[in-house]
Amino acid sequence: MAEKIYIFDFGSQYTQLIARRVRELNVYCEIHPYNHLPIIDQDVKGIILSGSPHSVFDKEAPSIELDSIRGELPVLGICYGAQLTAHEAGGKVLPSEIREYGRANLSFINDTNPLLRHITANSQVWMSHGDTIRELPPEFKKIASTESVEIAAFQVEEEQTYGIQFHPEVTHSEEGLTVLKNFLVDICGCEQDWTPAHYVDSTVAELKEKLGNDKVVMGLSGGVDSSVAAVLLHKAIGKNLYCIFVDNGLLRKYEFEEVLHSYQDMGLNVKGVDAKDRFYEALKGIKDPEAKRKAIGKTFIEVFDDEAHQISDVKWLGQGTIYPDVIESVSVKGPSATIKSHHNVGGLPDFMKLKVVEPLNTLFKDEVRRVGKEMDVKQEILGRHPFPGPGLGIRILGDITSEKVRILQDVDYIFIKGLKDHKLYDDVWQAGAMLLPVQSVGVMGDERTYEQVVSLRAVTSLDGMTADWVHLPYKFLAEISNKIINQVKGVNRVVYDISSKPPATIEWE
Ligand code: XMP
Repeated sequence: MAEKIYIFDFGSQYTQLIARRVRELNVYCEIHPYNHLPIIDQDVKGIILSGSPHSVFDKEAPSIELDSIRGELPVLGICYGAQLTAHEAGGKVLPSEIREYGRANLSFINDTNPLLRHITANSQVWMSHGDTIRELPPEFKKIASTESVEIAAFQVEEEQTYGIQFHPEVTHSEEGLTVLKNFLVDICGCEQDWTPAHYVDSTVAELKEKLGNDKVVMGLSGGVDSSVAAVLLHKAIGKNLYCIFVDNGLLRKYEFEEVLHSYQDMGLNVKGVDAKDRFYEALKGIKDPEAKRKAIGKTFIEVFDDEAHQISDVKWLGQGTIYPDVIESVSVKGPSATIKSHHNVGGLPDFMKLKVVEPLNTLFKDEVRRVGKEMDVKQEILGRHPFPGPGLGIRILGDITSEKVRILQDVDYIFIKGLKDHKLYDDVWQAGAMLLPVQSVGVMGDERTYEQVVSLRAVTSLDGMTADWVHLPYKFLAEISNKIINQVKGVNRVVYDISSKPPATIEWE
Protein backbone atom coordinates (compact mmCIF):
# COMPACT_ATOMS: atom_id res chain seq x y z
CA MET A 1 0.00 0.00 0.00
CA ALA A 2 1.48 3.38 -0.93
CA GLU A 3 0.36 6.76 0.40
CA LYS A 4 -1.82 6.85 3.46
CA ILE A 5 -3.23 9.06 6.17
CA TYR A 6 -3.18 8.12 9.84
CA ILE A 7 -6.12 9.01 12.04
CA PHE A 8 -5.18 9.08 15.70
CA ASP A 9 -8.24 8.17 17.69
CA PHE A 10 -9.05 9.83 21.00
CA GLY A 11 -12.33 7.93 21.30
CA SER A 12 -14.82 10.04 19.37
CA GLN A 13 -18.02 8.43 18.13
CA TYR A 14 -17.20 9.98 14.73
CA THR A 15 -13.72 8.51 14.21
CA GLN A 16 -14.86 5.76 11.84
CA LEU A 17 -16.87 8.30 9.92
CA ILE A 18 -13.73 10.39 9.36
CA ALA A 19 -12.04 7.30 7.93
CA ARG A 20 -14.94 6.60 5.62
CA ARG A 21 -14.96 10.15 4.29
CA VAL A 22 -11.21 10.10 3.66
CA ARG A 23 -11.63 6.85 1.75
CA GLU A 24 -14.59 8.24 -0.20
CA LEU A 25 -12.04 10.74 -1.47
CA ASN A 26 -9.98 7.75 -2.67
CA VAL A 27 -7.27 8.19 -0.09
CA TYR A 28 -6.31 5.19 2.02
CA CYS A 29 -6.30 5.78 5.79
CA GLU A 30 -5.93 3.85 9.01
CA ILE A 31 -7.29 4.46 12.49
CA HIS A 32 -4.89 4.02 15.40
CA PRO A 33 -5.70 4.48 19.09
CA TYR A 34 -3.78 7.37 20.65
CA ASN A 35 -2.09 5.06 23.11
CA HIS A 36 -0.88 2.49 20.58
CA LEU A 37 0.62 4.64 17.89
CA PRO A 38 2.40 3.05 14.95
CA ILE A 39 5.73 4.07 13.47
CA ILE A 40 5.30 6.83 10.93
CA ASP A 41 6.98 5.85 7.70
CA GLN A 42 7.44 7.68 4.40
CA ASP A 43 4.07 6.55 3.05
CA VAL A 44 2.22 8.54 5.69
CA LYS A 45 1.24 11.85 4.10
CA GLY A 46 -0.63 13.44 6.97
CA ILE A 47 -2.25 12.96 10.34
CA ILE A 48 -5.78 13.63 11.51
CA LEU A 49 -6.47 13.96 15.23
CA SER A 50 -9.99 12.84 16.11
CA GLY A 51 -12.49 14.22 18.58
CA SER A 52 -13.01 12.74 22.02
CA PRO A 53 -15.65 12.47 24.72
CA HIS A 54 -12.97 13.88 27.07
CA SER A 55 -12.07 17.45 27.93
CA VAL A 56 -8.40 18.53 27.82
CA PHE A 57 -8.81 19.25 31.55
CA ASP A 58 -9.72 15.70 32.51
CA LYS A 59 -7.18 13.95 34.69
CA GLU A 60 -7.01 11.15 32.19
CA ALA A 61 -7.33 13.33 29.10
CA PRO A 62 -5.88 11.40 26.16
CA SER A 63 -2.79 12.99 24.73
CA ILE A 64 0.10 12.29 22.36
CA GLU A 65 3.58 13.69 21.69
CA LEU A 66 2.43 16.43 19.33
CA ASP A 67 5.92 17.93 19.11
CA SER A 68 7.21 14.91 17.28
CA ILE A 69 4.70 15.26 14.44
CA ARG A 70 3.96 18.98 14.24
CA GLY A 71 6.07 20.53 11.52
CA GLU A 72 7.15 17.12 10.23
CA LEU A 73 3.85 16.25 8.59
CA PRO A 74 0.58 18.03 7.90
CA VAL A 75 -1.75 17.71 10.90
CA LEU A 76 -5.49 18.36 11.10
CA GLY A 77 -7.05 18.41 14.56
CA ILE A 78 -10.81 17.97 14.62
CA CYS A 79 -12.75 19.19 17.68
CA TYR A 80 -10.84 17.69 20.65
CA GLY A 81 -7.86 17.24 18.32
CA ALA A 82 -7.90 21.01 17.68
CA GLN A 83 -8.38 21.86 21.36
CA LEU A 84 -5.52 19.59 22.35
CA THR A 85 -3.21 21.18 19.77
CA ALA A 86 -4.03 24.69 21.00
CA HIS A 87 -3.94 23.74 24.70
CA GLU A 88 -0.55 22.02 24.50
CA ALA A 89 0.94 25.04 22.75
CA GLY A 90 -0.17 27.39 25.55
CA GLY A 91 -3.55 28.49 24.19
CA LYS A 92 -6.58 28.90 26.41
CA VAL A 93 -9.30 26.26 26.21
CA LEU A 94 -12.34 26.79 28.43
CA PRO A 95 -15.61 25.01 29.03
CA SER A 96 -18.26 26.55 26.75
CA GLU A 97 -21.00 28.41 28.57
CA ILE A 98 -23.47 26.16 26.83
CA ARG A 99 -22.66 22.84 25.24
CA GLU A 100 -22.59 23.62 21.54
CA TYR A 101 -24.40 20.97 19.63
CA GLY A 102 -25.94 21.15 16.19
CA ARG A 103 -25.83 23.30 13.10
CA ALA A 104 -23.95 26.60 12.91
CA ASN A 105 -22.75 28.83 10.07
CA LEU A 106 -19.28 30.11 9.33
CA SER A 107 -19.70 33.87 9.62
CA PHE A 108 -16.01 34.54 8.96
CA ILE A 109 -13.85 32.51 6.56
CA ASN A 110 -10.31 33.19 5.42
CA ASP A 111 -10.85 31.62 2.04
CA THR A 112 -7.29 32.20 0.90
CA ASN A 113 -6.19 29.70 3.51
CA PRO A 114 -5.48 26.33 1.81
CA LEU A 115 -7.77 24.45 4.21
CA LEU A 116 -10.76 26.65 3.45
CA ARG A 117 -10.35 27.28 -0.24
CA HIS A 118 -13.71 27.11 -2.10
CA ILE A 119 -15.71 27.20 1.13
CA THR A 120 -18.61 29.57 0.64
CA ALA A 121 -19.71 32.39 2.93
CA ASN A 122 -22.02 31.23 5.73
CA SER A 123 -21.30 27.60 5.03
CA GLN A 124 -23.19 25.32 7.40
CA VAL A 125 -21.10 23.24 9.81
CA TRP A 126 -21.88 20.72 12.55
CA MET A 127 -20.74 21.45 16.08
CA SER A 128 -20.60 19.04 18.99
CA HIS A 129 -18.38 20.19 21.82
CA GLY A 130 -18.35 21.05 25.52
CA ASP A 131 -15.08 23.04 25.55
CA THR A 132 -14.06 25.85 23.30
CA ILE A 133 -10.76 27.52 22.33
CA ARG A 134 -10.81 31.04 23.78
CA GLU A 135 -7.27 32.23 23.06
CA LEU A 136 -4.77 31.00 20.54
CA PRO A 137 -1.02 30.84 21.16
CA PRO A 138 0.79 33.71 19.36
CA GLU A 139 1.94 31.68 16.38
CA PHE A 140 -1.59 30.37 15.71
CA LYS A 141 -3.96 32.37 13.53
CA LYS A 142 -7.72 32.22 13.35
CA ILE A 143 -9.07 31.25 9.91
CA ALA A 144 -12.80 30.86 10.57
CA SER A 145 -15.50 31.79 13.10
CA THR A 146 -19.20 31.23 13.69
CA GLU A 147 -21.58 33.59 15.50
CA SER A 148 -20.94 31.91 18.84
CA VAL A 149 -17.51 30.31 18.36
CA GLU A 150 -14.85 32.84 17.54
CA ILE A 151 -12.11 30.33 16.91
CA ALA A 152 -13.85 27.78 14.71
CA ALA A 153 -10.66 27.03 12.76
CA PHE A 154 -6.97 27.91 12.97
CA GLN A 155 -3.61 27.36 11.32
CA VAL A 156 -0.19 27.47 12.92
CA GLU A 157 1.90 30.02 10.98
CA GLU A 158 4.69 28.61 8.83
CA GLU A 159 3.45 25.14 9.61
CA GLN A 160 0.99 22.73 8.01
CA THR A 161 -0.86 22.31 11.28
CA TYR A 162 -4.57 23.07 11.33
CA GLY A 163 -7.42 22.77 13.78
CA ILE A 164 -11.18 22.90 13.27
CA GLN A 165 -13.82 22.99 15.95
CA PHE A 166 -16.59 21.62 13.70
CA HIS A 167 -16.97 18.12 12.31
CA PRO A 168 -16.31 18.01 8.56
CA GLU A 169 -17.07 14.27 8.47
CA VAL A 170 -20.73 14.72 9.40
CA THR A 171 -23.01 15.35 6.43
CA HIS A 172 -24.63 18.33 8.17
CA SER A 173 -21.32 20.11 7.54
CA GLU A 174 -22.36 20.85 4.00
CA GLU A 175 -18.89 21.54 2.65
CA GLY A 176 -17.10 19.25 5.06
CA LEU A 177 -15.91 17.00 2.26
CA THR A 178 -14.30 20.00 0.55
CA VAL A 179 -12.44 20.84 3.76
CA LEU A 180 -11.18 17.27 3.98
CA LYS A 181 -10.27 17.26 0.30
CA ASN A 182 -8.34 20.51 0.70
CA PHE A 183 -6.40 18.92 3.53
CA LEU A 184 -5.75 15.62 1.77
CA VAL A 185 -4.99 16.88 -1.72
CA ASP A 186 -3.67 20.44 -1.45
CA ILE A 187 -2.00 20.20 1.93
CA CYS A 188 -0.89 16.55 2.18
CA GLY A 189 -0.40 16.11 -1.57
CA CYS A 190 -2.35 12.84 -1.79
CA GLU A 191 -2.95 11.47 -5.29
CA GLN A 192 -6.46 10.10 -4.66
CA ASP A 193 -5.67 6.86 -6.43
CA TRP A 194 -7.04 4.44 -3.87
CA THR A 195 -9.90 2.92 -5.88
CA PRO A 196 -11.51 -0.54 -5.87
CA ALA A 197 -9.49 -1.45 -8.98
CA HIS A 198 -6.31 -0.31 -7.31
CA TYR A 199 -7.23 -2.24 -4.17
CA VAL A 200 -7.79 -5.44 -6.14
CA ASP A 201 -4.49 -5.12 -8.03
CA SER A 202 -2.36 -4.26 -5.04
CA THR A 203 -4.00 -6.82 -2.73
CA VAL A 204 -3.67 -9.62 -5.26
CA ALA A 205 0.01 -8.74 -5.74
CA GLU A 206 0.56 -8.68 -1.96
CA LEU A 207 -1.23 -12.00 -1.50
CA LYS A 208 0.84 -13.61 -4.24
CA GLU A 209 4.00 -12.46 -2.56
CA LYS A 210 2.87 -13.48 0.91
CA LEU A 211 1.41 -16.88 0.05
CA GLY A 212 3.65 -18.07 -2.77
CA ASN A 213 2.81 -21.73 -3.36
CA ASP A 214 1.22 -22.24 0.06
CA LYS A 215 -2.22 -23.73 0.42
CA VAL A 216 -5.03 -21.80 2.09
CA VAL A 217 -8.23 -23.29 3.50
CA MET A 218 -11.29 -21.18 4.00
CA GLY A 219 -14.86 -21.64 5.18
CA LEU A 220 -17.50 -19.94 3.05
CA SER A 221 -20.89 -18.90 4.34
CA GLY A 222 -22.59 -17.45 1.28
CA GLY A 223 -22.23 -14.01 2.87
CA VAL A 224 -20.66 -10.97 1.25
CA ASP A 225 -17.42 -10.89 3.24
CA SER A 226 -16.30 -14.49 2.96
CA SER A 227 -17.28 -14.59 -0.73
CA VAL A 228 -15.34 -11.45 -1.69
CA ALA A 229 -12.33 -12.54 0.40
CA ALA A 230 -12.35 -15.91 -1.38
CA VAL A 231 -12.50 -14.32 -4.83
CA LEU A 232 -9.50 -12.12 -3.98
CA LEU A 233 -7.53 -15.10 -2.69
CA HIS A 234 -8.55 -17.13 -5.73
CA LYS A 235 -7.23 -14.40 -8.02
CA ALA A 236 -3.93 -14.56 -6.20
CA ILE A 237 -3.39 -18.30 -5.73
CA GLY A 238 -6.02 -20.08 -7.85
CA LYS A 239 -6.51 -23.75 -7.00
CA ASN A 240 -4.33 -23.49 -3.91
CA LEU A 241 -7.33 -21.91 -2.24
CA TYR A 242 -9.47 -24.72 -0.82
CA CYS A 243 -12.95 -23.52 0.08
CA ILE A 244 -15.33 -25.44 2.31
CA PHE A 245 -19.02 -24.66 2.36
CA VAL A 246 -20.89 -26.52 5.09
CA ASP A 247 -24.59 -27.29 5.00
CA ASN A 248 -25.45 -27.14 8.70
CA GLY A 249 -29.11 -27.89 8.03
CA LEU A 250 -30.00 -24.40 9.24
CA LEU A 251 -29.63 -22.52 5.97
CA ARG A 252 -32.41 -20.97 3.93
CA LYS A 253 -34.35 -23.14 1.49
CA TYR A 254 -32.31 -23.95 -1.66
CA GLU A 255 -29.45 -21.83 -0.28
CA PHE A 256 -26.87 -24.58 -0.14
CA GLU A 257 -27.33 -25.69 -3.75
CA GLU A 258 -27.65 -22.17 -5.18
CA VAL A 259 -24.69 -20.70 -3.36
CA LEU A 260 -22.53 -23.71 -4.13
CA HIS A 261 -23.35 -23.29 -7.81
CA SER A 262 -22.50 -19.59 -7.73
CA TYR A 263 -19.15 -20.40 -6.17
CA GLN A 264 -18.45 -23.04 -8.79
CA ASP A 265 -19.46 -20.59 -11.53
CA MET A 266 -16.92 -18.15 -10.17
CA GLY A 267 -14.28 -20.83 -10.63
CA LEU A 268 -13.62 -21.35 -6.93
CA ASN A 269 -12.16 -24.64 -5.77
CA VAL A 270 -15.02 -25.36 -3.36
CA LYS A 271 -16.26 -28.45 -1.59
CA GLY A 272 -19.84 -28.61 -0.35
CA VAL A 273 -20.21 -30.68 2.80
CA ASP A 274 -23.60 -32.03 3.83
CA ALA A 275 -23.39 -32.11 7.61
CA LYS A 276 -27.08 -31.61 8.37
CA ASP A 277 -27.48 -34.76 10.44
CA ARG A 278 -24.40 -34.04 12.48
CA PHE A 279 -25.81 -30.65 13.45
CA TYR A 280 -29.32 -31.95 14.21
CA GLU A 281 -27.80 -34.67 16.37
CA ALA A 282 -25.70 -32.14 18.29
CA LEU A 283 -28.74 -29.90 18.79
CA LYS A 284 -31.13 -32.61 19.91
CA GLY A 285 -33.23 -31.46 22.88
CA ILE A 286 -31.30 -28.20 23.42
CA LYS A 287 -33.64 -25.28 24.11
CA ASP A 288 -31.45 -22.55 25.56
CA PRO A 289 -30.40 -19.98 22.90
CA GLU A 290 -26.78 -19.69 24.04
CA ALA A 291 -26.43 -23.45 24.38
CA LYS A 292 -27.74 -23.79 20.81
CA ARG A 293 -25.22 -21.23 19.56
CA LYS A 294 -22.42 -23.11 21.33
CA ALA A 295 -23.49 -26.48 19.95
CA ILE A 296 -23.69 -25.06 16.41
CA GLY A 297 -20.30 -23.35 16.73
CA LYS A 298 -18.63 -26.46 18.15
CA THR A 299 -20.06 -28.73 15.48
CA PHE A 300 -18.98 -26.33 12.75
CA ILE A 301 -15.42 -26.39 14.04
CA GLU A 302 -15.42 -30.19 14.16
CA VAL A 303 -16.78 -30.51 10.62
CA PHE A 304 -14.41 -27.86 9.30
CA ASP A 305 -11.46 -29.44 11.04
CA ASP A 306 -12.26 -32.88 9.62
CA GLU A 307 -12.42 -31.40 6.13
CA ALA A 308 -9.29 -29.29 6.52
CA HIS A 309 -7.32 -32.35 7.61
CA GLN A 310 -8.09 -33.99 4.30
CA ILE A 311 -6.05 -31.35 2.51
CA SER A 312 -2.36 -32.01 2.88
CA ASP A 313 0.10 -29.32 3.92
CA VAL A 314 -2.29 -26.45 4.47
CA LYS A 315 -0.47 -23.46 5.93
CA TRP A 316 -3.08 -20.72 6.08
CA LEU A 317 -6.63 -20.09 7.16
CA GLY A 318 -8.47 -17.51 5.03
CA GLN A 319 -11.02 -15.31 6.78
CA GLY A 320 -13.46 -12.62 5.68
CA THR A 321 -12.76 -10.35 8.67
CA ILE A 322 -13.49 -6.70 7.86
CA TYR A 323 -12.11 -3.45 9.27
CA PRO A 324 -14.76 -2.68 11.94
CA ASP A 325 -13.92 -6.07 13.53
CA VAL A 326 -10.25 -5.16 13.78
CA ILE A 327 -10.19 -1.52 14.79
CA GLU A 328 -8.76 -1.31 18.23
CA SER A 329 -11.28 0.62 20.22
CA VAL A 330 -10.13 3.33 22.59
CA SER A 331 -11.43 2.82 26.08
CA VAL A 332 -13.13 5.99 27.23
CA LYS A 333 -12.99 4.83 30.83
CA GLY A 334 -9.29 4.74 31.46
CA PRO A 335 -5.83 5.06 30.02
CA SER A 336 -5.53 1.47 28.90
CA ALA A 337 -6.88 0.70 25.46
CA THR A 338 -9.21 -2.18 24.95
CA ILE A 339 -7.87 -4.31 22.16
CA LYS A 340 -10.29 -6.64 20.45
CA SER A 341 -8.82 -10.08 19.91
CA HIS A 342 -10.09 -10.03 16.39
CA HIS A 343 -8.58 -13.27 15.29
CA ASN A 344 -11.27 -15.02 17.22
CA VAL A 345 -13.97 -13.20 15.31
CA GLY A 346 -14.36 -16.06 12.88
CA GLY A 347 -14.70 -18.36 15.85
CA LEU A 348 -12.01 -20.81 14.79
CA PRO A 349 -9.78 -22.12 17.54
CA ASP A 350 -6.04 -21.86 17.89
CA PHE A 351 -5.57 -25.60 17.74
CA MET A 352 -5.77 -25.44 13.99
CA LYS A 353 -2.35 -23.83 14.21
CA LEU A 354 -2.73 -22.12 10.90
CA LYS A 355 -1.56 -18.66 10.05
CA VAL A 356 -4.44 -16.31 9.31
CA VAL A 357 -4.85 -14.39 6.06
CA GLU A 358 -7.57 -11.74 5.98
CA PRO A 359 -7.56 -9.84 2.68
CA LEU A 360 -10.45 -7.54 3.66
CA ASN A 361 -9.31 -6.52 7.11
CA THR A 362 -8.72 -2.92 6.06
CA LEU A 363 -12.12 -2.41 4.42
CA PHE A 364 -15.51 -1.20 5.57
CA LYS A 365 -18.59 -3.16 4.48
CA ASP A 366 -19.56 -0.83 1.63
CA GLU A 367 -15.98 -0.97 0.36
CA VAL A 368 -16.11 -4.77 0.39
CA ARG A 369 -19.15 -4.55 -1.87
CA ARG A 370 -17.37 -2.17 -4.22
CA VAL A 371 -14.32 -4.42 -4.39
CA GLY A 372 -16.63 -7.39 -5.04
CA LYS A 373 -18.34 -5.48 -7.85
CA GLU A 374 -14.98 -4.64 -9.35
CA MET A 375 -14.27 -8.38 -9.54
CA ASP A 376 -17.70 -9.14 -11.04
CA VAL A 377 -19.03 -10.97 -8.01
CA LYS A 378 -22.75 -11.44 -8.64
CA GLN A 379 -25.22 -8.90 -7.28
CA GLU A 380 -27.17 -11.77 -5.63
CA ILE A 381 -24.18 -12.28 -3.37
CA LEU A 382 -23.15 -8.63 -2.92
CA GLY A 383 -26.66 -7.38 -2.21
CA ARG A 384 -27.81 -10.10 0.12
CA HIS A 385 -29.10 -9.43 3.61
CA PRO A 386 -26.93 -10.40 6.57
CA PHE A 387 -27.72 -13.88 7.87
CA PRO A 388 -26.56 -15.07 11.29
CA GLY A 389 -23.95 -17.83 11.52
CA PRO A 390 -26.26 -20.09 13.59
CA GLY A 391 -28.87 -19.56 10.85
CA LEU A 392 -32.42 -20.73 11.40
CA GLY A 393 -31.20 -22.33 14.64
CA ILE A 394 -31.77 -19.05 16.47
CA ARG A 395 -35.05 -18.38 14.64
CA ILE A 396 -36.68 -21.59 15.81
CA LEU A 397 -37.54 -20.84 19.40
CA GLY A 398 -36.93 -23.83 21.62
CA ASP A 399 -35.46 -27.11 20.45
CA ILE A 400 -34.66 -27.84 16.83
CA THR A 401 -35.88 -30.70 14.69
CA SER A 402 -35.60 -31.27 10.96
CA GLU A 403 -39.40 -30.91 10.68
CA LYS A 404 -39.33 -27.47 12.31
CA VAL A 405 -36.51 -26.45 9.99
CA ARG A 406 -38.60 -27.56 7.01
CA ILE A 407 -41.57 -25.44 8.16
CA LEU A 408 -39.45 -22.36 8.78
CA GLN A 409 -37.56 -22.74 5.49
CA ASP A 410 -40.86 -22.78 3.60
CA VAL A 411 -42.19 -19.73 5.46
CA ASP A 412 -38.93 -17.81 5.05
CA TYR A 413 -38.78 -18.66 1.34
CA ILE A 414 -42.26 -17.25 0.68
CA PHE A 415 -41.43 -14.07 2.64
CA ILE A 416 -38.03 -13.40 1.05
CA LYS A 417 -39.20 -14.25 -2.47
CA GLY A 418 -42.18 -11.93 -1.89
CA LEU A 419 -39.84 -9.10 -0.89
CA LYS A 420 -37.81 -9.65 -4.06
CA ASP A 421 -40.84 -9.95 -6.34
CA HIS A 422 -42.30 -6.74 -4.94
CA LYS A 423 -38.94 -4.95 -5.22
CA LEU A 424 -38.87 -4.41 -1.48
CA TYR A 425 -35.80 -6.54 -0.79
CA ASP A 426 -33.24 -3.76 -1.27
CA ASP A 427 -35.16 -1.36 0.99
CA VAL A 428 -34.81 -3.80 3.85
CA TRP A 429 -31.54 -4.36 5.71
CA GLN A 430 -32.46 -7.77 7.07
CA ALA A 431 -35.57 -9.92 7.01
CA GLY A 432 -36.57 -13.35 8.19
CA ALA A 433 -39.17 -15.41 9.98
CA MET A 434 -39.28 -16.85 13.49
CA LEU A 435 -41.01 -20.09 14.37
CA LEU A 436 -42.67 -19.60 17.75
CA PRO A 437 -43.04 -22.36 20.32
CA VAL A 438 -46.77 -21.81 20.60
CA GLN A 439 -49.75 -23.32 18.91
CA SER A 440 -52.99 -21.49 18.33
CA VAL A 441 -56.47 -22.48 17.27
CA GLY A 442 -57.60 -21.84 13.72
CA VAL A 443 -60.21 -23.03 11.30
CA MET A 444 -59.65 -24.37 7.81
CA GLY A 445 -62.68 -25.42 5.80
CA ASP A 446 -64.85 -27.16 8.37
CA GLU A 447 -61.94 -28.26 10.45
CA ARG A 448 -60.56 -26.80 13.61
CA THR A 449 -56.78 -26.59 13.48
CA TYR A 450 -54.24 -26.29 16.27
CA GLU A 451 -50.97 -25.32 14.65
CA GLN A 452 -47.90 -23.14 14.94
CA VAL A 453 -47.44 -19.38 14.83
CA VAL A 454 -44.72 -17.64 12.82
CA SER A 455 -43.57 -14.08 13.18
CA LEU A 456 -42.18 -12.13 10.26
CA ARG A 457 -39.44 -9.58 10.92
CA ALA A 458 -38.01 -6.92 8.59
CA VAL A 459 -35.72 -4.13 9.77
CA THR A 460 -33.71 -1.21 8.51
CA SER A 461 -30.33 -0.61 10.10
CA LEU A 462 -26.84 0.64 9.38
CA ASP A 463 -24.80 -1.94 11.20
CA GLY A 464 -27.19 -4.07 13.23
CA MET A 465 -26.44 -2.17 16.44
CA THR A 466 -29.76 -0.36 16.28
CA ALA A 467 -32.70 -1.15 14.03
CA ASP A 468 -36.20 -0.01 13.12
CA TRP A 469 -38.97 -2.26 11.95
CA VAL A 470 -39.96 -1.65 8.36
CA HIS A 471 -43.42 -0.33 7.55
CA LEU A 472 -44.13 -2.95 4.90
CA PRO A 473 -47.30 -2.26 2.91
CA TYR A 474 -50.42 -3.91 4.39
CA LYS A 475 -51.29 -5.32 0.98
CA PHE A 476 -47.94 -7.07 0.80
CA LEU A 477 -48.24 -8.42 4.35
CA ALA A 478 -51.75 -9.68 3.60
CA GLU A 479 -50.57 -11.49 0.47
CA ILE A 480 -47.61 -13.10 2.25
CA SER A 481 -49.69 -14.14 5.25
CA ASN A 482 -52.26 -15.80 2.96
CA LYS A 483 -49.60 -17.61 1.03
CA ILE A 484 -47.89 -18.90 4.14
CA ILE A 485 -51.08 -20.17 5.77
CA ASN A 486 -52.29 -21.79 2.56
CA GLN A 487 -49.03 -23.34 1.49
CA VAL A 488 -47.08 -24.23 4.61
CA LYS A 489 -48.46 -27.22 6.42
CA GLY A 490 -48.21 -26.79 10.17
CA VAL A 491 -48.70 -23.00 10.31
CA ASN A 492 -52.11 -21.38 10.84
CA ARG A 493 -51.20 -17.92 12.10
CA VAL A 494 -48.78 -15.20 10.96
CA VAL A 495 -47.85 -12.11 12.98
CA TYR A 496 -45.58 -9.17 12.11
CA ASP A 497 -42.95 -7.99 14.59
CA ILE A 498 -43.20 -4.22 15.20
CA SER A 499 -40.40 -3.89 17.78
CA SER A 500 -37.35 -1.69 17.28
CA LYS A 501 -33.85 -2.34 18.58
CA PRO A 502 -33.32 -1.30 21.32
CA PRO A 503 -35.10 -2.46 23.38
CA ALA A 504 -35.81 -5.57 21.30
CA THR A 505 -33.07 -7.33 19.32
CA ILE A 506 -33.27 -8.29 15.66
CA GLU A 507 -33.16 -12.04 16.25
CA TRP A 508 -35.57 -13.47 18.79
CA GLU A 509 -32.92 -15.60 20.45
P1 XMP B 1 -29.38 -8.99 17.33
O1 XMP B 1 -30.35 -10.13 17.40
O2 XMP B 1 -28.33 -9.08 18.40
O3 XMP B 1 -28.62 -9.15 15.96
O4 XMP B 1 -30.07 -7.66 17.31
C1 XMP B 1 -27.79 -8.16 15.38
C2 XMP B 1 -27.22 -8.73 14.09
O5 XMP B 1 -26.34 -9.83 14.41
C3 XMP B 1 -26.80 -11.03 13.81
N1 XMP B 1 -26.59 -12.11 14.79
C4 XMP B 1 -25.64 -13.05 14.70
N2 XMP B 1 -24.72 -13.26 13.74
N3 XMP B 1 -23.91 -15.12 14.96
C5 XMP B 1 -23.87 -14.32 13.86
O6 XMP B 1 -23.05 -14.57 12.97
C6 XMP B 1 -24.81 -14.97 15.97
O7 XMP B 1 -24.83 -15.73 16.94
C7 XMP B 1 -25.71 -13.86 15.81
N4 XMP B 1 -26.72 -13.38 16.60
C8 XMP B 1 -27.24 -12.29 15.94
C9 XMP B 1 -28.26 -10.79 13.49
O8 XMP B 1 -28.69 -11.61 12.41
C10 XMP B 1 -28.27 -9.32 13.16
O9 XMP B 1 -27.84 -9.09 11.82
